[in-house]
Amino acid sequence: MKKTIEGYITRVDQRLERALPAAEGPAERLLSAMRYSVFNGGKRLRPLLCFAAADAVAKADHHTETAAASIEMIHAYSLIHDDLPAMDDDDLRRGEPACHIQFDEATAILTGDALQAMAFEQLAAMKEIPPATQLELVRLLANHSGCSGMVAGQAIDLAATGESLTLDQLKFMHAHKTGALIEASVLMGAVATNQATSRQLDALTKFASAIGLAFQIQDDILDVESSTAQLGKQQGSDAAKGKPTYTSLLGLDDARVQVAELYRESIACLEIFGDRAEPFRYIAGFIVNRAY
Ligand code: IPE
Ligand code: IPE
Ligand code: MG
Ligand code: MG
Ligand code: MG
Repeated sequence: MKKTIEGYITRVDQRLERALPAAEGPAERLLSAMRYSVFNGGKRLRPLLCFAAADAVAKADHHTETAAASIEMIHAYSLIHDDLPAMDDDDLRRGEPACHIQFDEATAILTGDALQAMAFEQLAAMKEIPPATQLELVRLLANHSGCSGMVAGQAIDLAATGESLTLDQLKFMHAHKTGALIEASVLMGAVATNQATSRQLDALTKFASAIGLAFQIQDDILDVESSTAQLGKQQGSDAAKGKPTYTSLLGLDDARVQVAELYRESIACLEIFGDRAEPFRYIAGFIVNRAY
């Protein structure tokens, strides 16, 4: 399975390289910042989920590569903006200076803007795909990344900083700020094959919702119990900023119980795919057991 996963990573990295060649020209600084933020050691979890979805439904192909790259661009943009002084004000990302530290704040804002536009450009330029499918990919990414998805979650996160939330409110925030892009990754991988049935999409939506929440709870846990060196981002950042998290609301032990329950729930959703869901099972295991 490790080989399959490595293959997915190679394929999305090559696709990203194609979209983001070495920086040159009048906008060199912007392009350098885009490359800096995309090729700096991300785990590529969302692309992995996109490939796993394609292989669960049919077979990953060049459409999967484009969908996966577009999602990773949105993810990279979301992290650049998330670290800005006006948002989480974090200096370290993936073990390196955050984009606004390495470059400057204005460049970091523009880098996020440009990556977001580039993500949609990749989808719009897809060839040999039924137009309705292509349009559905664009719609899925827009819906899950914007004011019904990730950006909404980020807005709720900022408004809630220093406040306390109920468990339901926290769950809603997590499902949007992180869960939405994870759901987009899974659904876009399936939709891009043009072969997904509604029963499959239903099961995948449930899988993504469970593993997406587990992912963010684990992120909250790691903020408490990991180290800055291992995380590649500032440990204790959530507590320092007064962010409502699963650990601040439930404590570490209960947060861990939630992750384990959501993992079980997510795996149960994969039954209809049989062996074809093995990559998914592997990735889900990584998500809940990861230390960074
Ligand atoms: C971090 O995501 C941001 C969250 C949504 C919690 P990842 O842990 O997937 O970050 P990278 O891409 O591997 O750095
Ligand atoms: C970020 O959540 C979610 C995004 C949409 C980027 P966090 O603020 O917890 O992510 P980290 O811990 O900084 O990576
Ligand atoms: Mg944040
Ligand atoms: Mg943050
Ligand atoms: Mg975090």
